[in-house]
Amino acid sequence: MIYYTDCDLETERVGAALADMLERDGVRRGFIAMRGEMGVGKTAFTRGFASHFGIKGVKSPTYTVVNEYSGRARIYHFDMYRITDGDDLYSIGYDDYVDSEGYIIAEWSENIEDFIPEGAIYVTISRMPEGDTKRKIEIEYGRRA
Ligand SMILES: Nc1ncnc2c1ncn2[C@@H]1O[C@H](COP(=O)(O)OP(=O)(O)OP(=O)(O)O)[C@@H](O)[C@H]1O
Ligand SMILES: [Mg+2]
Repeated sequence: MIYYTDCDLETERVGAALADMLERDGVRRGFIAMRGEMGVGKTAFTRGFASHFGIKGVKSPTYTVVNEYSGRARIYHFDMYRITDGDDLYSIGYDDYVDSEGYIIAEWSENIEDFIPEGAIYVTISRMPEGDTKRKIEIEYGRRA
């Protein structure tokens, strides 16, 4: 699925739409691997996703690596910007999060490519040449080749 947005609120809405689809399908857990350059809207998307479950005030976990939220679903919001290898992941207890009940949303998942679980949903956000606020959001199910 491909969406185009023109402001952060529209990107939030796409995140909320994905959450709604998963909830309707009875999917209560899952790994959402976010890709895209700095400031492209990964946190905005996550904010929208979380808002669908009644969670407000999602902020970038840059300095904490992971923020945990609990609403109608549990959400673990990771920022892998500073994660460079498996040891870093191990030290934050990543494996336990992956096994836990709830959704994981990981920004900068490019940095943990080898550790993304099978069946993850990939969300890739990119800038469009048409304007400063134009974004393309691509949602793909399952591991990429
Ligand atoms: N279409 C759009 N979708 C999302 N954000 C947009 C859009 N147009 C402009 N923006 C602006 O871009 C910024 C996106 O910030 P956000 O923190 O969500 O990005 P990010 O990808 O999480 O960045 P980082 O890599 O630093 O974590 C905000 O300032 C937002 O207002
Ligand atoms: Mg962010």
